[in-house]
Amino acid sequence: MLRSVLIGTGSHLPRRAVSNEELAKTVDTSDDWIVERTGIRNRYIAGDDETTSTLATEAARKAIAAAGIEAASIDLIILATATPDQTFPATATQVQDNLGCNGCIAFDVAAVCSGFLYAVGVADAMIRAGSAKRALVIGAETFSRILDWEDRATCVLFGDGAGAIVLEGREETGDKPRGILATKLHADGAHNELLYVDGGPSTTGTVGHLRMKGREVFRHAVVNLSSVLGSVMAEVGLANEDIDWLVPHQANARILDATAKKLGIPKDKVVITVDRHANTSAASVPLALDTAIADGRIKSGDLVMLEAMGGGFTWGASLIRM
Ligand code: UT7
Repeated sequence: MLRSVLIGTGSHLPRRAVSNEELAKTVDTSDDWIVERTGIRNRYIAGDDETTSTLATEAARKAIAAAGIEAASIDLIILATATPDQTFPATATQVQDNLGCNGCIAFDVAAVCSGFLYAVGVADAMIRAGSAKRALVIGAETFSRILDWEDRATCVLFGDGAGAIVLEGREETGDKPRGILATKLHADGAHNELLYVDGGPSTTGTVGHLRMKGREVFRHAVVNLSSVLGSVMAEVGLANEDIDWLVPHQANARILDATAKKLGIPKDKVVITVDRHANTSAASVPLALDTAIADGRIKSGDLVMLEAMGGGFTWGASLIRM
């Protein structure tokens, strides 16, 4: 059976790290409040010379090197972002030019924090349909540019960064095939007002700032994520105990704990990076995945569940055998 097999990962963070203590010098907040409510201790903020495309390009270069392939052999680039360099063209085309694989398919997907899951789902479908053989899938964001730094309820929660993976179409045989086993994606546009940006090209003509009703988003996140994970496991006919690693969207340590508890997945099987780089939206799942592969926790053959939920609402999950 033709499967999309993960052959490399990479990630990249901006140079400047900003701790809670540093933030508390300019925002009416405290390290205690942020740690207790979210688990966040640090985030990275892009400098003037760092953009979504520069972060994405560095993460992509590392993923391509880890895969041991030439950039020119990539025939599909999908970049998930809500903070593109420009309204158009797609930031994926800038990354393509930086990497020197001009000519292949390249486009962005916008599903905010679930963007990477959406990009993985589209790449997998295109590989299995024969439209591409090697896909570079990237999640990259510079959320610092759309934060309202006067709004302490949101500005302390987010950070910038990028993560990337390379998927390759391979004929897999045997009872434990590698690759993406199942992906489920959902959206419910009725909840726009709970998490959105108050600007855009066709409404205000401005970029706008992020607005969120955090408590309501929290409640929906736990319910939606538990449900979508359950439907992925039902599709592949496996039990939650079979999951070796849960790699969730890193929004809030309390959401991660509550979701894992609801699913009966022990805490030591959950990859947590939200303490180090806060919520990096579409970048958070590939950043966490790369972290746990690089430190040796996730190994070849492991069953890994990726999941995310974000503005829209959008949410999704993908089960991969490494
Ligand atoms: O990636 C997309 C998905 N996004 C999420 O998943 C975010 C989900 N939501 C959350 O993570 C949490 O709801 C938050 C971390 C955003 C907030 O936690 P909470 O426990 O729901 O707190 P709250 O918003 O109900 O605020 C509690 C109190 C308020 O004070 P009063 O009204 O009780 O006096 C806030 O004014 O905390 C206050 N507060 C702060 N205090 C210090 C809000 N932000 C801050 C702050 N520092 N930064």
